[in-house]
Amino acid sequence: MVELTIDGTKIRTVEGTTVLEAAGEMGIVIPTLCYYPGLSPYGACRVCMVEVVKNNRSSLEASCTLPVEQGQVILTNSERVRKARKLIVELLLASCPNSKTLQDMASNMGINKIRFKIKDRGCILCGLCVRYCKEQMQSGGIGFIGRGTSRKVSTAFDVTPEECRNCGGCEWICPVCERACTAGNLIDGLCGGCQNLAPVETCPICTGCSESVGMQGHKVY
Ligand code: SF4
Ligand code: SF4
Ligand code: FES
Repeated sequence: MVELTIDGTKIRTVEGTTVLEAAGEMGIVIPTLCYYPGLSPYGACRVCMVEVVKNNRSSLEASCTLPVEQGQVILTNSERVRKARKLIVELLLASCPNSKTLQDMASNMGINKIRFKIKDRGCILCGLCVRYCKEQMQSGGIGFIGRGTSRKVSTAFDVTPEECRNCGGCEWICPVCERACTAGNLIDGLCGGCQNLAPVETCPICTGCSESVGMQGHKVY
């Protein structure tokens, strides 16, 4: 067992646990984007970063790939952590303003301005789809190609690979494709529509089914 301190509270956990998992065991929620339980951690988005304090110095580390260590001191919500997370979400939103996951995260973090040039790339390179396809579906039909700004997720020769099982998992798990923001009127890259208190549209014969109702209304059976 390893003993560490997270946000001032001591915890004992098994060796090999990550700081993200240890914090989760204590009920501390650290925001994540490229992490998904059951898939290997990738450490790409850096949204899950925490402050690691050692010898009166501290560094920022991605908690999803950081193994627990004896005597470790972790801060999950310090001012430095919050500031760094906000910057990262701002950067990600600038490259994917239509991601509802990112818009919600920005609202929760109180982000009210994107200081970067908005350029919709449609992918934050989190690698969830690639890992899902390979590790969960044992398919490996998709992967990363290119480097730097040309890096993207693709299939070989841009055609549906033979290995693809048409499970739809790569879209389902994607924080950009599956949960696209439909607000359509982003102001400086920010939406915040989900957080406003405008009355929710309901069907004329609403039975309170709690299904979300879009512009066209949902199907009434
Ligand atoms: S739909 Fe095809 S490419 Fe996508 S995760 Fe499933 S097997 Fe992989
Ligand atoms: S397509 Fe989606 S899941 Fe795949 S790397 Fe890009 S953002 Fe992540
Ligand atoms: S969730 Fe840890 S780096 Fe993305």
